[in-house]
Amino acid sequence: MDHAFMRNLKSSVSCIDFKDEVPLRCLDLGTGLGDWVIDAAKQWPDSTFVGYDLVNIQIPLVAVEKSIANRIQWVHGNFLRQKLPFEDDEFDYVHIHGIALGVPENKWHNLFEEIHRVLRPGGTVECIEEDATFPVLPRWFTAPLHAPRKRRLSVSEAQTEVILPQPMSFDELPHDHALLESLYNSLFHNRFVNPTPSSSLPSYFSACFGHVTSPPVIKFPMPPLAPMLPEPSPPASFESQRSGVDAVTSTRYRSDSSASSQASSTLHSEYASSSMTEDTLPPEVVTRPKRSNTQVKYEGTRIGSAKDTLSLFPLCNGDNMDDHTLFMQLKRSVALVLSAKEAMWEELKERIEERERENEREELIALYGWEDSDLSGDAPRKIFDRLVERYKEDMHMRVSLWHLLTDHGWELPKRDALTKAEYLEEQRFRRAIIEAQHHAKEDDMRRPCRSVRLLVGQKVIC
Ligand SMILES: C[S@@+](CC[C@H](N)C(=O)[O-])C[C@H]1O[C@@H](n2cnc3c(N)ncnc32)[C@H](O)[C@@H]1O
Repeated sequence: MDHAFMRNLKSSVSCIDFKDEVPLRCLDLGTGLGDWVIDAAKQWPDSTFVGYDLVNIQIPLVAVEKSIANRIQWVHGNFLRQKLPFEDDEFDYVHIHGIALGVPENKWHNLFEEIHRVLRPGGTVECIEEDATFPVLPRWFTAPLHAPRKRRLSVSEAQTEVILPQPMSFDELPHDHALLESLYNSLFHNRFVNPTPSSSLPSYFSACFGHVTSPPVIKFPMPPLAPMLPEPSPPASFESQRSGVDAVTSTRYRSDSSASSQASSTLHSEYASSSMTEDTLPPEVVTRPKRSNTQVKYEGTRIGSAKDTLSLFPLCNGDNMDDHTLFMQLKRSVALVLSAKEAMWEELKERIEERERENEREELIALYGWEDSDLSGDAPRKIFDRLVERYKEDMHMRVSLWHLLTDHGWELPKRDALTKAEYLEEQRFRRAIIEAQHHAKEDDMRRPCRSVRLLVGQKVIC
């Protein structure tokens, strides 16, 4: 998905506009499946390619069209532990995408020196890296989602139910997933990896390469909150009282929405306009404003004193991405967090053991409200699994794509008839969400869900 997105962003396999002189010998470092290599081999039919990676997970070349496969080679090795197994000056172009979160700070210089060695004089290098982002939902949004539902648990649910520790107070932690965020960040710090390569990479890169150009970091803003699902129909036995209930609900929607949009001005303009402020339509049928997806020409920021800069294709600007794109970017950042689940668990275990050794409560665990009994036996793993599940569920709500699909003519599935109790509970839940909006803080919606840095440079012989 990311490769396809990047290709779309750059409108070519490289953001460098090579004009008629495309590179003939190319290296893709940390190639993964090798899909960039295959795509590039299609676009540049006279070039040969090496995809280099630690693990043998590349698309088998027998499955690739012969005229393309003939020009591709997969090579395996560890670029942190050994010299690159290539000749000096062998490549015209080196492509790097998505390796930074596995490269410790003290390894960058050697790695770039090696890339410099295998590049021919005048050869180009392109590096696209993203920061480790932990997307979160503001408390005002998650609090109603986590409020206990008034329903009886089934036997199987009751057996597996885990009571999550509750933070001391609403304001003590910035959001519900603070412990997971802290564990996620520790993964990088413990490995001496900078979780924000967008800020640290330019200095390592420009120490080795010349004519360095780097457009501003592409920051993908959090997508707007999805509007609420259409209200369910009241149960038949409730029909006679319906007009009264509707009047209350609708009034709340409208009056809350105008109060909210005044209070938070532009902050919630998307949310407000998508589900709250429309006076003439009920919230569930309000259409969201469409953003245009225009291309913005970035003047690359030149680093150092080079006179010549490489010519770049225009890139899309994160601010102009349509909602669909932003939802997919958020989904990808969440997937990255979830892929580190087991490593986060190891980190938590270490914190608990550390606490036992030192005979004191690790600050964040304590702050999150864990009791001593939560920290022994298999309770921590159960609670941890539940925390991750809750994070997944919350982000699923945030990424919710149903309203985008309705833009494309999909119909929402019909819901089963609700009981009176379920119907009232849903009304309560809707009101709680609207009410909770008032807790919104200025920067709740400002955190980007993804930040990507592009760097290009050249091997310059003085
Ligand atoms: C996030 S994936 C990116 C894959 C591909 N470049 C892409 O954009 O789809 C990072 C890749 O780098 C490889 N990698 C990480 N550390 C490496 C190392 N020390 N030596 C070689 N490859 C490494 C991983 O095996 C993985 O396939």
